[in-house]
Amino acid sequence: MTENPNDQEKALAKLRERELDDQAKADTKRAQLEQAEAHDLAKARAIEQAQHRFRAIKGTRDILPPNSAVWNWFEDTAREVFEAYNFGEIRLPIFEQTELFARSIGLQADAINKEMYSFEDRGSDVIVKRSDGGLIVIEVKESLRLRDNEMRAQLEDLLARVERSSGLAAMAEPVTLRPEATASVARAYIEHNMQALPGNTKLYYMGPMFRRERPQKGRYRQFYQIGAEVLGQSDAPAIDAEVLEMLLVFFNRAGLTRTTLCINSIGDKNCRPQYVELLRQELQRVKDQLGADSQRRIETNPLRVLDSKVPSEQPIIEKLPRISDHLCDDCRAHFAKLKDELNLRGIQYEENWRLVRGLDYYTRTTFEVIAEGLGSQNAVCGGGRYDGLVELLGGPPTKGIGFAIGTDRSILSIEETGNAPAPDGLSVYVAWMGLASYPTAVWITRKLRDAGLTVELPPEEMKFKKSLGLADKLGARYALILGEDEVASRTFTLKRLADAEQKKLTEAELLEYLESERRR
Ligand code: HAM
Repeated sequence: MTENPNDQEKALAKLRERELDDQAKADTKRAQLEQAEAHDLAKARAIEQAQHRFRAIKGTRDILPPNSAVWNWFEDTAREVFEAYNFGEIRLPIFEQTELFARSIGLQADAINKEMYSFEDRGSDVIVKRSDGGLIVIEVKESLRLRDNEMRAQLEDLLARVERSSGLAAMAEPVTLRPEATASVARAYIEHNMQALPGNTKLYYMGPMFRRERPQKGRYRQFYQIGAEVLGQSDAPAIDAEVLEMLLVFFNRAGLTRTTLCINSIGDKNCRPQYVELLRQELQRVKDQLGADSQRRIETNPLRVLDSKVPSEQPIIEKLPRISDHLCDDCRAHFAKLKDELNLRGIQYEENWRLVRGLDYYTRTTFEVIAEGLGSQNAVCGGGRYDGLVELLGGPPTKGIGFAIGTDRSILSIEETGNAPAPDGLSVYVAWMGLASYPTAVWITRKLRDAGLTVELPPEEMKFKKSLGLADKLGARYALILGEDEVASRTFTLKRLADAEQKKLTEAELLEYLESERRR
């Protein structure tokens, strides 16, 4: 059977139509796919961007309101208590020469070994070092620098050219973010000749410290301390006892209850070296039963083995010689007198012969305060005596004792026990309506703020309902309603948001009423 040429053409046309149709479908599908891919790509980019959002660096954190109010209250309470004991505040630099910490904290202390944030900085004296080790020192005089910026720029240019043309390198000064502040206080004591001041020098400080530790609950890389130090000629145990009394009075006032004060004496340069040697020998005997950290410490700092929390090491450590049996007569008498002084003040304590503390500068009294409910990072304060530190840093023979409270941990503990004070919060929300009432709103807001009240004034006009809704969400105690009627009658409507009770008051009545409420 032969096909009709017309039918053939029709079949061909149909085929082409189907091909075109398929092509169109494929194009649509491809476009859809491309769109989906583009969408996925955009999504992936958005995710990537979100992941790249700036975040606080590991181990650091923001302290936000209302929590920051608890911090301020905690610090204010410390100021109040410490000043009652005649301590004055010292504000210290955040960074110091690395050498200051290396010398005072001790090269073997863990804080120095691995935890310091150190960097190189060009000192105010610019030192150019010759490659053969000889030094060319070019001093940039402070007065010159302040008076003449152009001169300084020329000098820096000259230095850069000297460096380039001669292969000489500018020497940087190693500096470190402070891991603690006792070394800085000792440095300041020497630098400002405080030994010439009458009586003991009693200083307190507060602020951030930096240690590159593994972050966990209660342990941060930037953390905060409140510390106090007494420096002077006397090492009377009454000083140690008064420092401890002040610390505990503060903790009590700040609601940091359920704490234990642990004390110890780790001897001085007359008796500690022999004890450390004895400890080292005994540790050598049991070396094989100890973990890697303790084994390393036998050589570097045997006292730190006593700090170990490794369960399998505990029975071994319990059998080691105890410092209390090896104190010299003076150290023994000092420790006995300290305990008498604590008893006199009604201060409860526990003796802990293993309390040796991590920093090398300690002599005789060491102590820690432990708080319940903080897990492994439960020391809220550490301190002790450091009679040789000032001399070690090049100052006159000086006795010293002090402590540092870990603010982060203390506040965690206070909050966990529900002892943190409730923040005062917002007293008055000024719900103004109509532009005619705005000037009165601005003026009365200023008056109420001057009277010590916390007041929120919305910057733009809002519908009445929305305004009151926001007042409620912000936790305001009162809404001050101010519309054209109030402005015309020179009165204010004060609404207590808890029970919706409303009062119409004159300005004088309003101020009197809110002030009396504040005092309650
Ligand atoms: P410390 O024992 O190294 O002593 O620190 C004192 C307190 O700071 C600790 O008990 C703890 O509460 C807190 N703390 C230490 N490291 C961290 C961290 N990474 N994160 C959170 N809190 C931390 C000293 O610093 C000595 N300067 C104390 C002193 C003053 N000794 C004599 N005078």
